[in-house]
This record gives sequence, C-alpha cells and structure tokens, in this order.
Amino acid sequence: MKKLEQLYEGKAKKVFSTDDPDVVIVDYKDDATAFNGEKKGTIVGKGVVNNRMTNHVFKLIEAEGVPTHLIEELSDRETAVKKVQIVPLEVIVRNVAAGSFSKRMGVEEGRELLCPILEFSYKDDALGDPFINDDYALALGFATQEEIDTIKNYTKKINEILKAYFLQADMKLIDFKIEFGKDSSGKIILADEVSPDTCRLWDVHTNEKLDKDRFRRDLGNVEEAYNEVFKRLGLA
Ligand code: TMP
Ligand code: ASP
Repeated sequence: MKKLEQLYEGKAKKVFSTDDPDVVIVDYKDDATAFNGEKKGTIVGKGVVNNRMTNHVFKLIEAEGVPTHLIEELSDRETAVKKVQIVPLEVIVRNVAAGSFSKRMGVEEGRELLCPILEFSYKDDALGDPFINDDYALALGFATQEEIDTIKNYTKKINEILKAYFLQADMKLIDFKIEFGKDSSGKIILADEVSPDTCRLWDVHTNEKLDKDRFRRDLGNVEEAYNEVFKRLGLA
C-alpha cells in the first residue's frame, strides 16, 4: 500500500490517501503540543512508540469484540487504517482524579474515584475542546442516541481491557481519551490512538508519571518515560 497525497496534518499525525478510497495511511510524528497547541516541542521517538503501542492495543481491543480502524502496520511510524468520519467527541474515562478533573472539582490528584467517570468534550480546537454532555451532542447532531449508547458501551469495555493490560506491566491507568469514527457503512469504530500522549499512566508502586504529563508539566525525562512504557509492554 502506498501513500498518495496528504489529506490532513494534525498535531501528532499526518494522514495520507491511498488508491483505496476506504483506506488511509496515518504517519505518527515526534511533534508534541499541549494546552491546545500553545506549548510545542519534540519528543524524539514518540511517533514510533505511539504507532506500535496503538496497534498492539487496538488488536487486543478488537479481540474482545470492539471494532477498530486498524488494518495493517506498514512501518515503525505508518499504519493503514479504515477511513472514517470522526465523531467530534473526545471520550474521556477517569479512574483516578487528575488533570482537568482535579482542577475543576478541587480534588487532589491521585484520589481513587468510587466508580469510573465517562465524560465528553466537543472536539474543537478553536473552542478549546469544551466539556459537554449527552444532550449537547444530541442537540447539535454530533451523534444519535444509538451511537452515543454504542460509544459508551465500547468505552467501558475498553477501560476494563486497558486497566488490566497496563496493570500487568506495573502501571495504573489513571485516565485516557479516545475517539470514535463512522466507517463507510456508518458503523461506529474506535479510531485515533491509545498512547502515552492520550493516557495517564503511573507506576503502580511509586506513582511516577510515565506519560505526556512529563512534557506538559516540564517534569523532565520525557523520552525516557515513553521508552519505559514501550519496554514494560514488551514492545521495545
Ligand atoms: P485532562 O485531565 O486534561 O482533561 O485529560 C484527560 C485525559 O485525556 C488525559 O489522559 C490526557 C488526555 N488528553 C488528550 O488525549 N488530549 C487532550 O487534548 C487533552 C486535554 C487530554
Ligand atoms: N491536544 C492537546 C494540545 O492541543 C495536547 C494535550 O494536552 O494532550 O496541544
């Protein structure tokens, strides 16, 4: 499969067309941004970690019955995926208080939540991805009730799969963000990525942060954290 023309360049990936209208190639970059693109940098090797980790995780998720956009890994940074129309929702799950939740709710980072929280943001950079609820999504036509129900059911299942997967590698899944798309037949499938860019992962013994918060918060050892996750998952 060959890249034809670049369709889109996002903050972390480029997307190319192929000779099949239902297939695109994603190419993962080392570029890192935070705070809605205000902070910019490079995390050397991140594209390789995020590409390979996402594909590995998507295979596990697929095996548990949740459909994904994955077709085939083509190289260290490139993967062929089904072309989808992205549902403009950032679907976030929180198992432990952190980040914007801790700030909004005045709850210290690290506090275990009594049950997982599933929340939506409207995927719109210009608006800073505002927090929304189901009614906003329905009223603005981002998704139907049936699609929202499917997204929520898949997301809960994905949380269970990911929690167990990271725990066996001595990492706690604090929270994560996923995105869904609609394939050419209108079916909801998991798209985008699952990586240290989009998950908070803490060492189970020390609570050391092993994710993009090291970049967002200038904690140092950013590349080392991505490589550590890669190694612990047996992907290095
Ligand atoms: P938050 O606490 O900043 O709302 O982030 C929740 C989770 O979502 C965290 O695992 C990081 C991830 N995330 C993204 O993947 N992209 C984003 O743009 C933001 C703000 C968070
Ligand atoms: N999506 C955020 C940004 O705009 C990055 C993040 O905090 O993960 O830069």
